[in-house]
Amino acid sequence: MLNFVLHTPTKIYFGKKEVDRTGEIVKEYGQKALLVTGRSSTKKTGSLDKVIDSLQAADVDYVLFDRIEPNPRATTVDEGGRIAREERCDLIIALGGGSAMDAAKAIAAVAISGRGIHEYIRGNKTGLWKELLPIREALPIVTIPTLAATGSEANSGAVITNWETKEKSSISGPALFPKAAILDPELTFTVPVSYTADGAVDMFTHLYEGYMTGNEQANVQDEITEGLMRNVVAYAKTAIDQPDNYEAREHLLWTSTLALVGIANAGRGGTFPVHQMEHTLSAHYDISHGRGLAILTPAYFRIVIQNDRPHRLARLGRQVFNVTGSDDLAAVKETIQAIEQWFKEIGTFDTLKNVGVRQADLQLMAEETVRVGGLGKGFLDGTHPISAEEILRIYQDVYE
Ligand code: NZQ
Ligand code: ZN
Repeated sequence: MLNFVLHTPTKIYFGKKEVDRTGEIVKEYGQKALLVTGRSSTKKTGSLDKVIDSLQAADVDYVLFDRIEPNPRATTVDEGGRIAREERCDLIIALGGGSAMDAAKAIAAVAISGRGIHEYIRGNKTGLWKELLPIREALPIVTIPTLAATGSEANSGAVITNWETKEKSSISGPALFPKAAILDPELTFTVPVSYTADGAVDMFTHLYEGYMTGNEQANVQDEITEGLMRNVVAYAKTAIDQPDNYEAREHLLWTSTLALVGIANAGRGGTFPVHQMEHTLSAHYDISHGRGLAILTPAYFRIVIQNDRPHRLARLGRQVFNVTGSDDLAAVKETIQAIEQWFKEIGTFDTLKNVGVRQADLQLMAEETVRVGGLGKGFLDGTHPISAEEILRIYQDVYE
């Protein structure tokens, strides 16, 4: 395997009712929090009340910033940063899905720097991100995920969209590692069917991207990855059929964290081309990240992986979907079918047309993916350099 440095400093509190300890946990990091949430779910589900009760019991002051939209926008982050500065907050708490957690991390950075977050977005036209990343200064962050999907709760990345330029990409840096993550699976009982499924596909994709593109002599990581993928497949349908099945929710939540905390890809490396292709879709059409990944995955496997690393896809099929074909090429076809079948069972199988994408935009989006995700190279990194033409073929393959 490759040499690696692994640093996962986030202190994780996992289990039933851990959310009730929020006040006591965050007190170590600050006295006045900006509490960052999405626009409605935390109020409807009662998770916001739980956090507020716990903050009050621990005498931690807070200001609520409840304006984060899915696919969080740079303008909203900048507003949060301004409020954090004006209110002299010394801590950021994120309560919500990946969008609230990512926005909270970005707010923690701009609250200190006073800059616009769009300047930091990796791959953007201004080029400023080259100087500003990695982010080394931010207010302390504590995350409380309410949706199992992104793994943002314990990693140092965030994904922000500049809606004006349609640039959606990541920011990252050591200062964005949350100090603590409070993982209470019961907070995810209320996640609707569609987001439960999209979240499952997101964590599955985090797992297969490095597995497909990274170093092939990292068997420990490969087996960790396969085990985590088996858990997603085993528990996603249960969580959809029985939303308050604790066992299913706890396994999904912990898998989502482990999938993107650095462990699976340490020593294996790898790149995330499907993510780059998806970010352009959600930047242009504001669709759910996991849904976009579900649409693109079969096409990526058919057009790229089936040719470049059929043995990896065959191994995934055998280890995760009980594919039996002993010949790799037969196993590859069976694996793609099995993945599509799983997406159908959990209700995420979809097409670009069905989520509202216009065919006339595919060419532009393929070029934009390479511009933003290619970081000036003119292609995406993967098992081979992926050009705009190839991305266009992938988009067309799953258009309708
Ligand atoms: O916005 P509110 O009102 O809170 O409702 C949300 C939203 O409508 C709702 N929801 C969340 N928890 C709920 C709930 N509804 C009922 N009960 C609950 N317990 O679900 C909807 C989707 O939420 P969102 O946060 O947008 O979803 P997700 O967690 O999938 O996050 C997606 C964002 O994360 C980025 C994506 O690109 C996207 O912008 N990613 C972040 C990553 C990271 N930081 O490491 C990696 C990922 O690859 C991903 O790119
Ligand atoms: Zn993702």
